[in-house]
Amino acid sequence: MNKLIGLTRNFSSSSSLNGIKTVTVVGGGLMGSGIAQVAAQAGQNVTIIDVQPELLEKAQKSIQANLTRVGKKIYKTEADKIESFVKESFDRIKVSTKLEDGADVDLVVEAIVEKLDVKQELFNKLDQICPAHTILASNTSSISINEIGAGIKRKDRFGGLHFFNPVPVMRLLEVVKGDHISEETYQAMMEWGKSVGKTCITCKDTPGFVVNRLLGPYSAEAIRMFERGDASAVDIDIAMKLGAGYPMGPLELSDLTGLDNKKFILNIMLEKTGNPVFKPITLLDKMVGEGKLGRKTGEGFYKYEKK
Ligand code: 3HC
Repeated sequence: MNKLIGLTRNFSSSSSLNGIKTVTVVGGGLMGSGIAQVAAQAGQNVTIIDVQPELLEKAQKSIQANLTRVGKKIYKTEADKIESFVKESFDRIKVSTKLEDGADVDLVVEAIVEKLDVKQELFNKLDQICPAHTILASNTSSISINEIGAGIKRKDRFGGLHFFNPVPVMRLLEVVKGDHISEETYQAMMEWGKSVGKTCITCKDTPGFVVNRLLGPYSAEAIRMFERGDASAVDIDIAMKLGAGYPMGPLELSDLTGLDNKKFILNIMLEKTGNPVFKPITLLDKMVGEGKLGRKTGEGFYKYEKK
């Protein structure tokens, strides 16, 4: 029921848009395409920017497929309505390999690789080419918002908008307040989050924000249990689904979000907090070293059919 309400709200919220009507998403991966999709569904014009044209093509295909899933859920068997929902939403999305093509918008959401220097370079450039009113936001899962925005001038119009995978389904948005964000920008971010169908929570610029700070130790201990041979991967996942009511077990969830991301988040959390629960895990390092990154590479704790 929850998922359906989230999706329906997503669509019907187009009439209650706040000041943000045009959005650029930088990064055409899984998260970026999900963010672009929910904004387009809510009636906003979206540009996806990525340096790799083949990633943009992949993003368009997956958005079209996911819009159809959402359309079917809202309109059931009304084929005409499903078709026009998909077409209208999809037509609001443009793609480009040039950052300049996405500069003149109300909001830019960055969803690129989790590397501080790469993000800083991008934001410094966006700060120069975007109009003064544009709000800049990062979808980083674990890097400090203050550090990412250290070099920009518009620090009052900068913050974190952290989405969850799969973006069209997960109803949470963490709105992260850096030290210099203005009240006006913060309110605009909260309003925009609502307009794309999300329930927003507010968080300080603290390592891992809320969700990853709690998910990190939980999934790390699940990986250690599996490494020690305490239980099989399947049984660990069944245990948490049936014993704790989680929709997915910790190992299948790690496969979904990517084991390279998991390793990166644990490393950064250890560095920032010093808490030994985030210490490196030999098995995780080995799997990442072997390219077993989860669903996206066809193998992680489980094997997946290649798409
Ligand atoms: N777009 C649109 N709809 C989608 C979708 C997508 N990308 N993916 C799934 N759906 C819809 C399906 O159509 C389906 O609809 P239905 O219920 O009407 O049939 C519904 O969502 C459920 O999907 P499935 O039947 O395929 O599979 P499940 O019932 O197993 O649900 C799940 C899949 C929604 C992923 C669920 O297992 C879940 O909620 N898992 C937990 C995910 C989670 O914890 N995410 C957060 C990870 S942490 C993170 O992202 C932070 C980052 O920083 C790393």
